[in-house]
Amino acid sequence: MTDKYEQVIELAKRRGFLWNSFELYGGTAGFYDYGPLGAMLKRRVENIWRDIFVINEEYYEIEVPTIGIEDIFIASGHVGGFSDPLTECLKCKEAFRADHLVGDVVENPDTLSADELTVVIGKHNIKCPECGGGLGKVYEFNLMFKTSIGPGGKRSGYLRPETAQGMFVDFPRLLKFYRDRLPFGVTQIGKAYRNEISPRQGVIRLREFTQAEAEIFIDPRDKTHPKFGEISDIILVLYSQKGQEQGSSEKMSIGDAVQNKIIAHQFLGYCLARTYQFLVRVGVSPEKLRFRQHMKDEMAHYAADCWDAEIQSDRFGWVEVVGIADRTDYDLKAHAKQSETELNVYVSYDKPIKVERFAVKPNMGVLGPMFKGNAGKIANALKLLKSEDLSGETIEVVVDGKVIQVDKEAVSFENVTEEVHGETIIPHVIEPSFGIDRITYSLLEHSYFEEEAKVEEGEEEEKRIVLRLPPEVAPVQAAVLPLLTRKELIDPANKIVKALRKAGILVAFDDSGTIGRRYRRNDEIGTPYSITVDYQTIDDGTVTIRDRDSMKQVRAGMDGIEENIYDMIYKGKSFDEAGRKV
Ligand code: GLY
Repeated sequence: MTDKYEQVIELAKRRGFLWNSFELYGGTAGFYDYGPLGAMLKRRVENIWRDIFVINEEYYEIEVPTIGIEDIFIASGHVGGFSDPLTECLKCKEAFRADHLVGDVVENPDTLSADELTVVIGKHNIKCPECGGGLGKVYEFNLMFKTSIGPGGKRSGYLRPETAQGMFVDFPRLLKFYRDRLPFGVTQIGKAYRNEISPRQGVIRLREFTQAEAEIFIDPRDKTHPKFGEISDIILVLYSQKGQEQGSSEKMSIGDAVQNKIIAHQFLGYCLARTYQFLVRVGVSPEKLRFRQHMKDEMAHYAADCWDAEIQSDRFGWVEVVGIADRTDYDLKAHAKQSETELNVYVSYDKPIKVERFAVKPNMGVLGPMFKGNAGKIANALKLLKSEDLSGETIEVVVDGKVIQVDKEAVSFENVTEEVHGETIIPHVIEPSFGIDRITYSLLEHSYFEEEAKVEEGEEEEKRIVLRLPPEVAPVQAAVLPLLTRKELIDPANKIVKALRKAGILVAFDDSGTIGRRYRRNDEIGTPYSITVDYQTIDDGTVTIRDRDSMKQVRAGMDGIEENIYDMIYKGKSFDEAGRKV
């Protein structure tokens, strides 16, 4: 029996959404092409993401190279630790994720080291799933694609495993762009690469994939969000760490979840809410969507907390499509150390605060005659001393690399109260990271329906395949169908096509086959509206508009049809408002 994945992929291949890459040469796992309809669908998903995060949150988008120099990934921890455990069959040489092979015999295989996995494989006598051969010692395989920059292989580089690092590296420039003020966010949509060991999940696990990521730099002392009130009533299915221990998820408003400390702070809760709104807007079914918190031992090396948006898929179960992580100051600190550059922000207090400070006062009357030309330098060194430095019999300072003893009578000290206007902090980063390919596949699966359809005029088949994509993401947004291939119908149809295109609507003109068959062709690619030109059009200037989902038809004027369709696609105008029913 075919499952939904097979049905969707069959349609996706046949109609030009998704194709195996390099098919001409037999293909390679982990790579997919987007065909004409798939590329448009994906672009529309990305543009809705931009609408939410770039336009409405004002997290400007940047674009940096997909190749990064080695320093970046040494700092980020990817050179040292971005790996999966690999074992190879000693007979057929096939490679496997060792943690995937032991899933049936241990509980949390992804928490085991390579040596521990080798032991488990041996103890349970696990063999090669392909040929039954013995398996080799498990070792950590780095998932980055390595390359060299310039001739001679002198400088190493890597294809980026996440778009995030480019945004951390640009922090000093971004801080200036945002006029030295927190919080600010920056986004990037682009390719990332992971040399997966043996991807066997089709379009779900790709070696080259598209990420849409936002890095939001916040003041760690204030994790509230000014727009939290806008989203606090949104109800989500939350599968927290505690819920997972107890084996149950719960439905809860984001406001309650933050109040009850299930979600750690408002900023994280806000990002979960906007993620939910985005996923539902592009066509993910809300009842197949949940937010799962990472368990402590599964968190990425940079994260203090992380919630995944997971989408339920027919074949693969719950699939992670978004990770919303609190990366703290991990990345900025790491890049500051590696680049030997300070990556921090001076933040001013609303009101200056009073701070008591221990102050050393050098007595120049004593120091001058004693140290002559060196007295100034010694006085400055003395000012930096702390109270504990003054507890001994003599005082020592280091000036120009020399230790100098100073008599106690050369200094006095006191506690002074000073006004402090701000402080220097290292921002924390909240990162919503979206896997655009998985989302695009998921919404195809969630919108795919096979129905016993009522037979429409001119129709032969009984089964109807329909993609109930939201009109805003459907690749083709309207079909124009002259009832017959006669000039008197083709001419007005062409006029409509022109008007729709001028309004930015992607239109398919289709005049071949029965009208029923043309409706079906458009239903299965998700075209929300079909406009049919018939003989009444010549008489009274009206056309029929057919709604893909209900298959209802209304009659509407040819004049202004582009506005009518545009408003249904983008402005929430209902189909019933589009004309009068026929
Ligand atoms: N930037 C997070 C990730 O790539 O998973």
